[in-house]
Amino acid sequence: MKYQAVGSFKSSYQFKAYLERMQIDLSFDDELDANCYLGQSYRLHKGFTIGNRFAVLPMEGWDGTTDGRPGPDMIRRWRRFGMSGAKLVWGGEAVAVSHDGRANPNQLLINDKNASSIAELRRELIYSHKDLYIGLQLTHSGRFARPYNKPEPIILYRHPVLDKKFNLDSESALL
Ligand SMILES: Cc1cc2nc3c(=O)[nH]c(=O)nc-3n(C[C@H](O)[C@H](O)[C@H](O)COP(=O)(O)O)c2cc1C
Repeated sequence: MKYQAVGSFKSSYQFKAYLERMQIDLSFDDELDANCYLGQSYRLHKGFTIGNRFAVLPMEGWDGTTDGRPGPDMIRRWRRFGMSGAKLVWGGEAVAVSHDGRANPNQLLINDKNASSIAELRRELIYSHKDLYIGLQLTHSGRFARPYNKPEPIILYRHPVLDKKFNLDSESALL
């Protein structure tokens, strides 16, 4: 059976109509109630309570600068993460720990030179909040690295299945 992607529904009504058509029993409210369970705070530890239970998952937009700093669209996105009201920003988006581990030429890259502009993303987030809990997802894309938009895989070890699947030969660089 083929299902329609949830992202293709532009309103809750469209989604409800689809569920009905497909005879799928999944009810939900049309409007978000701020007092619902997800709206309640969560005590993480003695010193910190997260303001509510809504979370922003990591979502890399491939829209940083080629030297790994945030671009204008990324800054706007993080500002909107902040404005959304979600209090758990769970990784923001993947930030490469080294140039050779970037998944694409526009991925954020954390290093001494870029640190202060990456800190700007945090400032955008906390602008209107004090009880956010923020993580930053650090990555090395390894066999999927594409720092210049073509594959430049670096692998930890020869994998009998994955090397074959992704056409890596014995010349591929080992970390
Ligand atoms: C455009 C886009 C970019 C994403 N980038 C990342 C990322 O950088 N790191 C990550 O761990 N997951 C990433 N994800 C996965 C999401 O965090 C999430 O786990 C996934 O979309 C499933 O949640 P959903 O069903 O609500 O979409 C990305 C997803 C999308 C759609």
